[in-house]
Amino acid sequence: MQRVRKAVFPVGGLGTRFLPATKAMPKEMLPVVDRPLIQYAVDEAREAGIEQMIFVTGRGKSAIEDHFDIAYELQATMLSRGKSIEILEPTLLKPGAFAYVRQQEPMGLGHAVWCARDIVGDEPFAVLLADDLMVGQPGCLKQMIEAYEQVGGNVICAQEVPEEQAHQYGIITPGTRDGKLTEVKGLVEKPKPGTAPSNLSVIGRYILQPEVMRVLEKQEKGAGGEIQLTDAMATMIGSQPFHGLTFDGRRFDCGDKAGYIQANMALALERPDIAPAVKAFGDKLFCQS
Ligand code: UTP
Repeated sequence: MQRVRKAVFPVGGLGTRFLPATKAMPKEMLPVVDRPLIQYAVDEAREAGIEQMIFVTGRGKSAIEDHFDIAYELQATMLSRGKSIEILEPTLLKPGAFAYVRQQEPMGLGHAVWCARDIVGDEPFAVLLADDLMVGQPGCLKQMIEAYEQVGGNVICAQEVPEEQAHQYGIITPGTRDGKLTEVKGLVEKPKPGTAPSNLSVIGRYILQPEVMRVLEKQEKGAGGEIQLTDAMATMIGSQPFHGLTFDGRRFDCGDKAGYIQANMALALERPDIAPAVKAFGDKLFCQS
């Protein structure tokens, strides 16, 4: 079984649900407390042993490249003022351990992943959607890689969602269950209300075999007129092992305004430096309402 060494971060979407905030700033740079969403995803990948980070960017996304670059002026000024620059350490990636590829048009997640095909090459790889913020110990991708080492093939992150929300997600037709692992028998992207095969949804973490790139090459547009990763994955079911892993931890949908605010509240309350002030304010606010 080949080790998962590379991760793809599709960050080429338009982020229309967050306009006007995302007009000139990438959605993935929105901060939760004091770290941008993309930083959480990169840290999660690093923890899981990923060696090569591949960002699929688009127009107006250069802030992401700058975020993971050396900021000489900032560092020099901070040092000259006697301030520690340790806080910037996680933003520095190992030279040569990252690559950027441009998705010229936001044609969908499947298309974004396909844009990374040459850099991924012929080996299994991970995909992380930074707007799904996963909080767990160990992190979500690490849990998935541990599962992958047992079952091989393709492993996607699965989470139960309320039935009335199933039409917003990729939904799994479940086969046999073994603890946290569920065999994936089928996948459907955004099923029409009332037609979902289960309430087990696909969350933004994937371990995929390179064959998916060849499927994506010919993939037609699907739900929402976009080239869907779910449709390409569905084609591979039956020819390769395919499992969903129920992640042990919390997920915040930060592509959605309510989910994003919830993430900020939850993570702020876990930070000893600000938790007392935030909690006191929250208590006062909620008592009034
Ligand atoms: P979303 O559909 O949640 O992101 O895609 P979006 O299209 O940017 O957001 P809204 O719905 O307009 O608010 C999930 C992930 O896939 C990436 C996005 O950047 C996001 O991380 N994506 C999506 C691409 O990289 N390219 C695309 O063409 C579409």
